[in-house]
Amino acid sequence: MIEVRNLRKTYGPFTAVDGITFEVPRGEIFGFIGPNGAGKTTTMRILSTLLEPTSGEARVNGLDVLEFPERVRQLIGYMPDYAGVYEGIDVVEYLDFFAAAYGVERSRRRAAIEGVMELTDLGGLRHKMAPSLSKGMRQRLILAKTLLHDPAVLILDEPAAGLDPRARIELRALLKELGTMGKTIIVSSHILTELADMCTSVGILEKGRIVAAGSIATILDRLHPGRTLALRTYEPEKALEVLARFATVQVLETADHTVRLNHTGEEPEIAEIVRALATAGVSVLGLSEEKANLEDLFLRITRGEVQ
Ligand SMILES: Nc1ncnc2c1ncn2[C@@H]1O[C@H](COP(=O)(O)OP(=O)(O)OP(=O)(O)O)[C@@H](O)[C@H]1O
Ligand SMILES: [Mg+2]
Repeated sequence: MIEVRNLRKTYGPFTAVDGITFEVPRGEIFGFIGPNGAGKTTTMRILSTLLEPTSGEARVNGLDVLEFPERVRQLIGYMPDYAGVYEGIDVVEYLDFFAAAYGVERSRRRAAIEGVMELTDLGGLRHKMAPSLSKGMRQRLILAKTLLHDPAVLILDEPAAGLDPRARIELRALLKELGTMGKTIIVSSHILTELADMCTSVGILEKGRIVAAGSIATILDRLHPGRTLALRTYEPEKALEVLARFATVQVLETADHTVRLNHTGEEPEIAEIVRALATAGVSVLGLSEEKANLEDLFLRITRGEVQ
């Protein structure tokens, strides 16, 4: 649905986007992650036809953004990282104004507005004046505006910025819901963990280049092939003897009756390991898989430690 090939954007001698390539298939939620100045907004503005690339290609549903900007605009909903709201109008009037601007037919406008207000939970705020909305309410209003013409593709630039933890969780749930409705979504953030559980894939951008891309599981697997397991037992010494027999097991550390290990074999082998431990008389109190530390992963990638 979205294809970006060797995209570059320079401002004079400065290169903001340095030849990036990625694809987002239909129905996927793609997380665009990177530190300040990485080039996220620049790329999203190019995809939204608001900025011309210096070279390379960007296509939405097969349509080149430079050749067919009008048709691309009909397909996408772009939520900028900062958007103002107007004085003197309330939430419904604001949405009505944009529905008209997006060419939503008059007969369908009412239903479109009610639909997006329900989706973004704005119903209770319908007559609140737009400038008096809190940051979180305003983000929801801008997202609602982005959805008015029922675009197939959403390009959301840091929609969670400035939201409180509850609002972030609600936003995540909303984006997941939009994903299940079949929308293709690109969403940017500085924070990998924020996007991890809702994105089907991510691209990590650093100084205008993609330094890692794919599903989070794939990226993690490249960093630590296999899985990290924590084995709880009162007999760690005996457990270590058994574990040493498995070429696929690497013990990371032993502390407080817990042996942490990395296992690179196939999953069914874990059952064999447990059986071997039991046969050797090691009582297994628990065996759990440790969640990868995504913050750590992000820092290592952006420091150039992972390629
Ligand atoms: N109009 C412009 N003129 C010159 N440089 C620009 C312009 N717009 C952006 N840049 C530069 O391009 C780089 C990428 O900016 P961009 O806004 O795309 O980053 P970003 O990843 O969205 O960052 P942030 O997380 O801070 O939003 C930055 O170094 C920025 O200073
Ligand atoms: Mg930005």
